[in-house]
Amino acid sequence: MSHICRPSAVHTTRAAARQRLPLPAPRSTVPVLLPALCVLLSGCEGPLSTLSPAGSGASKVATLFYVMITVAALVWLFVMALALYAAHKVPRSDSERTGRKLILFGGILLPVVLLGTLSWWSFGLTNELLEPGDGLVIDVTGERFWWRVHYETPSGPVISANEIRLPLGERVEFRLRTSDVIHSFWIPSLGGKMDMMPGTVNRLVLEAEREGTFRGACAEFCGLAHTLMEFDVIVMPRDAFYAWLGRRSGNAESPSTPLASRGRDLFLQNGCGACHRIAGTAADGRIGPDLTHVGSRRSVGAGTLPSGVGPIAGWIAHPAAVKEGVLMPPYPMLDADELVAIATYLDGLE
Ligand code: CUA
Repeated sequence: MSHICRPSAVHTTRAAARQRLPLPAPRSTVPVLLPALCVLLSGCEGPLSTLSPAGSGASKVATLFYVMITVAALVWLFVMALALYAAHKVPRSDSERTGRKLILFGGILLPVVLLGTLSWWSFGLTNELLEPGDGLVIDVTGERFWWRVHYETPSGPVISANEIRLPLGERVEFRLRTSDVIHSFWIPSLGGKMDMMPGTVNRLVLEAEREGTFRGACAEFCGLAHTLMEFDVIVMPRDAFYAWLGRRSGNAESPSTPLASRGRDLFLQNGCGACHRIAGTAADGRIGPDLTHVGSRRSVGAGTLPSGVGPIAGWIAHPAAVKEGVLMPPYPMLDADELVAIATYLDGLE
């Protein structure tokens, strides 16, 4: 390489000296690469990260990713080094024989051994993801554009939406369905994704290994609000989870203030109960999300807005302004006081 580059370098230096021009300083790529790397790596953390695992399935997926990317990088470096060597090597009489050996070992034997070993190892690793659950089953149905969640308990069903609670250290089986098109159920911090296909029930077993609040999302394009179809996942200690589940099968709390009482009356008078259920009231609709404990949830509109009286009131007034394509109609006939009263009632349903 040196005998090719040197004349041109000398020529450039002399030309610069003749014209009394300063030579350009050698550029380092570190100031550019380091911030870029920091920006890229900052995406590895957070509630939707696959590389910050909080579950046994996600740990295996992350291990698979790290091993594959490391091997791929090593192979790439090796091939680049060979290419550079070949480009600058002076041909010799034995080049053809050496080339045939190189193709045999580097082009056939090495890929077969390397890919075979990696495949055998990865099949074993991912096979562990198919192990059965410990007993708890949660039914989740993909809707337009939200998640219907159903726990079966000895004291009756517990119906929720857009939020899933899980016991720490227990392998939970999800039975996944859809009511319309294909959705995909994905909690990146806990494990891989699973499609929800019309006419069938898909199963996925996940085990949380760390307490905390994580995020789930729809991973299959399903319509206008596909990117606003998320849910919260709250991992609790086992005892606390089953105590919570036991409390959830009961009726909704009664309103505790005159404003909340007015909100409940308005909710029922305006026909909200045709689509939504609130256990213990006349509202028994099954089209939209169950609102029996809606005030305890962290978000409104399937992860779209933070919970609270203001966001709930805004959502009721004009859901499609928040989430285009949503099935819920707007309620422009309600004035601000009425919206706040209904939202206060719903926000109090802990
Ligand atoms: Cu549901 Cu995308």
